[in-house]
Amino acid sequence: MVVLGAEGDLSHRKLMPALFHLAGDGHLPDGFTLIGVARRDHDDDGFRASVKRSLAESKEAGPKDEGAFDRFARRLFYVKGDLNDPAMYGAVRRRLEERERQEPRPEGRLFYLAVPPSLYASTVESLSRERLAARVRDPDATPWIRVVIEKPFGRSRQTARELNRLVNEHLSEHQVFRIDHYLGKDTSRTSSCSASPTPSSSPSGAASRSTTSRSPPPRPSASSTAPAITRRPAWCGTCSRTTCSSS
Ligand SMILES: NC(=O)c1ccc[n+]([C@@H]2O[C@H](COP(=O)([O-])OP(=O)(O)OC[C@H]3O[C@@H](n4cnc5c(N)ncnc54)[C@H](OP(=O)(O)O)[C@@H]3O)[C@@H](O)[C@H]2O)c1
Repeated sequence: MVVLGAEGDLSHRKLMPALFHLAGDGHLPDGFTLIGVARRDHDDDGFRASVKRSLAESKEAGPKDEGAFDRFARRLFYVKGDLNDPAMYGAVRRRLEERERQEPRPEGRLFYLAVPPSLYASTVESLSRERLAARVRDPDATPWIRVVIEKPFGRSRQTARELNRLVNEHLSEHQVFRIDHYLGKDTSRTSSCSASPTPSSSPSGAASRSTTSRSPPPRPSASSTAPAITRRPAWCGTCSRTTCSSS
């Protein structure tokens, strides 16, 4: 995995704690390597120390002990450079290939663009030009190549389309992940709270068709004239309480 913008807020507050969790739970592949890229003047050990400081401050990193951090840190490497400098991509490629040679079967390459949105287009172009992230037509091909682009994906419909066009020039659609975790957050909160037993005032019993009710609502029998509305204790997946306060 290559994190471009590895010394930024997103990387330190969100990505590294999430990866640390995955490592602790044994969900990262054996040969997992993370190469951080930013302009800060570090070597590998300097980057590891910087990540360690962030994890120590992070509420999201969960329980930490030196052993867990040392195991995680051994997977971290650093390339210093400016994303506007073509030579930097060569340095990343050499580092990546060096790590991949040490793995019997590298699974794939994931490039995470945790950089300012103004750099998305040029970074995708450079990754492609330097053959770091080339187009792969077969979604099942291995080693795979994926690129994650953070939000905002464009500032308007037109700029989003332009960015999309450029991304699709260099990569197949299955290779691209456009992330907006905040949109997902609202959606999941709304849907998990819709298990509230609000009776419907409409004769069709619309509320009983909640998409996230824990069991399917009973169907009205053919002979009944009134809509079947079942009351059951409310349970909210977000609050884990029987009375949801966030719906
Ligand atoms: N922070 C969040 O919670 C959050 C949430 C959602 C989306 N995002 C998105 O995630 C992206 C990153 O956000 P952020 O808050 O982490 O930004 P940030 O704190 O400004 O970090 C940007 C990172 O990019 C690096 N960088 C910037 N210009 C560079 C260049 N020319 N060459 C090499 N590295 C360069 C910086 O390196 P140096 O450290 O060397 O300057 C830094 O590591 C943005 O697109 C943002 O919209 C962030």
